[in-house]
Amino acid sequence: MNVNRRHLMTGTIGAAAVAMVASACASEDGGGDGSGGKKVGISMPTKTSERWILDGDNLKASFEDEGYEVTLQYANDVAADQVSQIETMVGQNVNVLVIAAIDNKSLSGVLAQAKGQDITVIAYDRLILDTPDVDYYASFDNTKVGTLQGTYIVEALDLANAPGPFNIELFAGALTDNNTKYFFNGAWEVLEPYVTEGKLVVKSGQTALEQIATENWDGAVAQERMDNILSNFYNDGSIVDAVLAPYDGISRGIIASLQGSGYTTMPVITGQDAEVESVKYIIDGLQSMTVYKDTRALAATTVDMVVAVLDGGKPEVNDEETYDNGVKVVPAYLLEPVSVDVNNYQEVVVDSGYIDASELA
Ligand code: BGC
Repeated sequence: MNVNRRHLMTGTIGAAAVAMVASACASEDGGGDGSGGKKVGISMPTKTSERWILDGDNLKASFEDEGYEVTLQYANDVAADQVSQIETMVGQNVNVLVIAAIDNKSLSGVLAQAKGQDITVIAYDRLILDTPDVDYYASFDNTKVGTLQGTYIVEALDLANAPGPFNIELFAGALTDNNTKYFFNGAWEVLEPYVTEGKLVVKSGQTALEQIATENWDGAVAQERMDNILSNFYNDGSIVDAVLAPYDGISRGIIASLQGSGYTTMPVITGQDAEVESVKYIIDGLQSMTVYKDTRALAATTVDMVVAVLDGGKPEVNDEETYDNGVKVVPAYLLEPVSVDVNNYQEVVVDSGYIDASELA
C-alpha cells in the first residue's frame, strides 16, 4: 500500500477535514482534545476492494491521531459476520461505531444494543436502514456519482448529435447496499431519455434494478452476466457500444468478458473508486472513466463528526433531507465525487497524492 495514500490530508478535502487536521495538530502538540481513553469500533465490509482498505487505514490513523483506541475489522462481505463483529465491539464498550454496512437491513438488532449503551453510530458511506439508532451519515453525493457516469456515456457517444442507434448494457451494484439505487437512478435519469428516443438500445432488455444488480459487487459475477449477454444478444455480429458499470471491480469483470469474446476496441465503460488497476486500464484505453471519491476526505469528515458529538456538540452536516432510512432522515455530510478519465487522471488522482505515479508504471 502506498504510504502517500494513507492518512494524507492534502488534496481535495473539505472544511470539516481542515478543521480535523488543525485539531489533530493540537493534540500532537500536547494541546489535548479531551478524547483520552475513548474507543472507536470501525466495521468495514470487505478487503476484496482497494477502497475499503484505504478507508480502514485512513480512519484508523486519523482516530489514533485524535487519541482514540481503535478496533478495525473487516467482514469479508458476510453480513452475519459483520453483525457479530459489531456485537463484540459493543461488548468492548466502544464509545463510537463507524460502520460501512454489507447488508443495510441487517443491523437493527445490534444497533439497538449499541444505543442501549449510549454508543454513537455513524453510517460510513453506506446508509443503514430501518433503525432509529444511526446518528449521522458521512458519504459522497451518491446520485451525482451516477449522473457523472451517465453523462460520460452521453458525451462520449455524442448522443446530442450522433444519429445512433448505439447498443448499451447496464450493470448496478449489490441490492443490499443502499447506494446502489442512488448510483443507478442518477445514471438512468440521464440515459433513459435516449433509450426512450431509440438512440440507445438495451439489446438484452435488462433495465430493471433487480435484473442488472451484481451480488456483493463481485467482478466475477458481472463477468458471467456479461458473458451471457454477449452470447444471447450479440451473436448476430452486433457490438456493444457502451456499458454502464457502477464500480471499477465490476468494470474490469466486464472488460475481461469482452476481451474473452474477441473485443479489441472497448466500448465506453464507466467505473467508480479510482482503483489503481482501473486507472491503469484508463491509461491503456480499456476503461473509459472512473468516479474518484477521496477516501482521505471521507475519513477526516467522519473523525470530525465524532469529535464534535463526543464533545457534546453538533457536527457540521450539509444534507438533512436526502437520506431517509425508513425510520428517520439521517443528517449527512456529503462530499463531491469527481469524474476521471485519461485527460485529467494525472491532475485529480496523482497530483493530489491519492495514487503515487509509481503505482501506475
Ligand atoms: C461505495 C462505492 C463502492 C461500492 C463497492 C459502495 O457502497 O459507495 O464506492 O464502489 O460500494 O464496494
